[in-house]
Amino acid sequence: MLRNKLYFRKLLIAGTGLFLCLFLVVHLSANLILVLPEEVARGLYNSYSTTLRESPLIKIVAYALYLAIVLHVIYAIVITIHNRRAKPQKYVMNRSNENSSWASQNMGILGTLILIFIVIHLANFWARIKLGIGEEVGLDTDGHVDVYEVTYSLFQNIYYVIFYTVLAIPLAYHLHHGFKSAFKSLGFYHKKGLRIVAKVALVYALIMGIGFGVIPLIVYFK
Ligand code: HEM
Repeated sequence: MLRNKLYFRKLLIAGTGLFLCLFLVVHLSANLILVLPEEVARGLYNSYSTTLRESPLIKIVAYALYLAIVLHVIYAIVITIHNRRAKPQKYVMNRSNENSSWASQNMGILGTLILIFIVIHLANFWARIKLGIGEEVGLDTDGHVDVYEVTYSLFQNIYYVIFYTVLAIPLAYHLHHGFKSAFKSLGFYHKKGLRIVAKVALVYALIMGIGFGVIPLIVYFK
């Protein structure tokens, strides 16, 4: 019974985690528009953002995304507490460092940093654009909500640039380990297959970390 419960929790973390990984691919692709010259970027970014907000299908996906974030966080906390309680007392001969990576031992800390990032990030964009909280967002010349301006002006503030760029590092670590362990949690234990998964995880985490980390810098120095 307890094993089943644990297995279900791990499946849920893995499933929601991979869904969030997919979201990040789409999100990074869209945000790469920001590095284009302003004449092209503003119109493209705003019309893309408007299309997403107005599509009924994307609205459903967005709710699934919020649910995935909440479930991923809740079950990650539950499983971390459970593992701490179940772990035998640490003693001198504990060789956990030799058997697992730094990221795997610190998924809780990395996850917490990302959660803090997401809360601040949603306050920066989502709350203003979708909920209309804070300073009103203007329209561009095509009549679209000027999401580009919100992003551009945020990244004129060096503290936000540093925050977004530095937080891309724990994001990359978390994704690297999370991507690999999600496959194991889903029961994928093929040795050669797991080696390929490990390589894909590394490339994926590097692209996400570097991509999300450099966009604010490029916008700042544009
Ligand atoms: C360069 C970095 C990033 C930029 C410029 C950026 C930009 C944005 C913008 C403009 C929105 C609002 C979109 C809209 O409603 O039209 C948004 C939403 C969001 N972002 Fe980001 N983002 C970045 C990185 C990230 C990262 C690293 C994560 C996750 C770890 C993330 C998670 C989200 C989520 C969950 C939403 C809400 C999505 C929705 O409501 O559909 N973002 N982002």
